[in-house]
Amino acid sequence: MDQKNVLFTIFGGTGDLARRKLYPSLFRLYQKGDLGEDFAVIGTARRPWSNETYHEVIKNSIASFQPSNKEAEEFASHFYYQSHNVKDTQHYDALKKLSDELDEKYSIQGNRIFYLAMSPNFFGTIVSHLKSQGLLNTNGYHRVIIEKPFGNDYQSAADLNDEINQVFTEEEIYRIDHYLGKEMIQNISAIRFANLIFESIWNNRYIDNIQISLAEDVGVEERGGYYDKSGALKDMVQNHILQMLSLLAMEPPVAFSEKEIRTEKIKALESIRMFSEEEVRKNFVRGQYVAGEIGDDQFRGYREEENVDENSLTETFVAGKFLIDNFRWSGVPFYVRTGKRLTEKGTRINVVFKQVPVNVFKDSVTGPCDQKSLAPNILTIYIQPTEGFSLTLNGKEIGQGFQTDPIKLEHRNSSDIIENTPEAYEKLLLDALNGDGTNFTHWDEVAQSWKIVDRIRETWDKDQQTPPGYRAGTMGPDEAYQLLEKEGRHWVWEP
Ligand code: BG6
Repeated sequence: MDQKNVLFTIFGGTGDLARRKLYPSLFRLYQKGDLGEDFAVIGTARRPWSNETYHEVIKNSIASFQPSNKEAEEFASHFYYQSHNVKDTQHYDALKKLSDELDEKYSIQGNRIFYLAMSPNFFGTIVSHLKSQGLLNTNGYHRVIIEKPFGNDYQSAADLNDEINQVFTEEEIYRIDHYLGKEMIQNISAIRFANLIFESIWNNRYIDNIQISLAEDVGVEERGGYYDKSGALKDMVQNHILQMLSLLAMEPPVAFSEKEIRTEKIKALESIRMFSEEEVRKNFVRGQYVAGEIGDDQFRGYREEENVDENSLTETFVAGKFLIDNFRWSGVPFYVRTGKRLTEKGTRINVVFKQVPVNVFKDSVTGPCDQKSLAPNILTIYIQPTEGFSLTLNGKEIGQGFQTDPIKLEHRNSSDIIENTPEAYEKLLLDALNGDGTNFTHWDEVAQSWKIVDRIRETWDKDQQTPPGYRAGTMGPDEAYQLLEKEGRHWVWEP
């Protein structure tokens, strides 16, 4: 059976994600031959579009790749539009009819991938109708790709998972966390497991703390309605940040395979300490942006954004400390922070190493004696927008005497390389096509992440406090700095 012969059905086919990410990614796969000629895509949504309108949308969404007219037409000809009300069973009958016709036309052999890129309220309804109306009665493989958010707390996620499990097995479910498709996130494993110099010191004897920052300069854009119910903790920490943390903290897998990596990630997540209410208050802070400026541009405050409650208590920033209670990490804080309308867009990991056991330069007779402590060695992984890594070491300052001076060994991917790197969605779609779930989140990971985040959320909900304000264009409220300062540390990345 050729995996490439496939019928994609995209629920949410007129939406922003489909246009900005899915269609361009499918086009890149098509161009590279990862999708042959034997594939078809059905786009569904409520709007009553014709196939012609749909083809125009497809062609517009790939215009930036500057395909020839012929190439764009050929690609778009694989796309079919079906107006669809997800609650109406008759519409699934129509969808089945079209699916079976396309299966025949493109010799697809019954392989079906369903992409749920729409409101999570409907995920359960859609999958149950796929089964009841016979869309899964084919001989090929069946997979479902599910966009976030997967639930909005542990219980709702568990209910949703139960519903989906009535229809698809865990192996058939591909839960998207698009950060796992990012090149430099995948590189974390290469840095750790392909370099003896790091893995041998990757523990609490040599690492002082690890910092994960996911900064965004954008505000809530048009998503005020969703965001005001979610907030930064659920929007970014439950998924992207805890996924990054598990990749940094997990034990080396015995093999670089889906099963082994998953096992280790789950163990790492399960070792994160569940904080008491008091610990949550001490270790986590939030913020909400107020009006301010980034460069020459003025921005309004969060509460003035569209579809946001004018008295909203929702956090647009969160910073906190996680602790991992196992032999490797005991006592090493993992500081995390993320927020909207910060100084600039950037995702970085800083691994801060401990001081040398004895600072022999402290009382140096050949130079000034002001070097009470040395700068720490820091491994920085630049996830985006620049990609690469750097290592800060101490060298001798040039000149008389003996002063040490931090120097940086740097590697950055060139803009050419970055431009030609497959986009996260392209990689993830190809993985799903190949049946490789490594870079998707397993239910056990989702469940544990929700349990961790629920604990924090519950304390905040109980407290009902207005999050401290921070000016748009800054890196969050003072509380985020104090969180580290009270432990004698500071954020390494200070744009
Ligand atoms: C999404 C969040 O998961 O990630 C958004 O819902 C956020 O609020 C986005 O803007 C950030 O993704 P990226 O790839 O731009 O860093």
